[in-house]
Amino acid sequence: MSIHIGAKPGQIAETVLLPGDPYRAAWAANTFLTGAELVNDTRGMLGYTGTWNGHRVTIHGSGMGMPSLSIYANELIRDHGAKTLIRVGTCGAVQPHLGLGEIILAMTASSRSSPSDGIFGQLRFAPCADWGLLQSAARACDDKGVSPHIGGIFSSDAFYDERPDMIETLARHGVLAVEMEAAELYQVAARHGARALAVLTVSDNRDAGLEMPPKQREQSLGDMLEIALHSSLA
Ligand code: HPA
Repeated sequence: MSIHIGAKPGQIAETVLLPGDPYRAAWAANTFLTGAELVNDTRGMLGYTGTWNGHRVTIHGSGMGMPSLSIYANELIRDHGAKTLIRVGTCGAVQPHLGLGEIILAMTASSRSSPSDGIFGQLRFAPCADWGLLQSAARACDDKGVSPHIGGIFSSDAFYDERPDMIETLARHGVLAVEMEAAELYQVAARHGARALAVLTVSDNRDAGLEMPPKQREQSLGDMLEIALHSSLA
């Protein structure tokens, strides 16, 4: 047990998939895992462990935003022995050519701030995905006939950002999309020698006024989970 994760020793697998929403963690575990068992429900943040193709996997909610994800990533790695962590989530497109439902593999994750800033002080650390995981995810996409967009994303502190000019600056620097968790996941994983990746689906394009309908969200979560499972375990 750790402060925010009630799992007993050994109940968390070395491979952990992290959707933001705890109910999506429940749906994913019941849909993809064999023998899924609830291992955490502290504060309503659900985590399940089961097997996929004979491999033990935990699917655990991260909550929204870097402070929440940071708590779970720290405890999963430091207290429960997680070694491979893959965020599966949605993002908002920054580039006009990105359509709803397209898959992004986040090679790097920039941010304005993160819970790790206190450690780096004046240094500007460059949070990046684990190369092996990124390669495997690209291969898993290929096997599924999906063409992923691979590149940099931006992890924001605000969903309702009052600085639309920032998006324009990010777009000019080739950033693909905005979400709210990956930069901290990459930093916590790097700090503790774990592997991390974020597999994302474009759920909205605010400039174009586009938003993914709920049914398509569920379908896209299924696609991301399959890619994440194949990348970490195949
Ligand atoms: N901004 C931040 N996070 C998000 C977005 C967005 O537009 N869409 C999905 N997650």
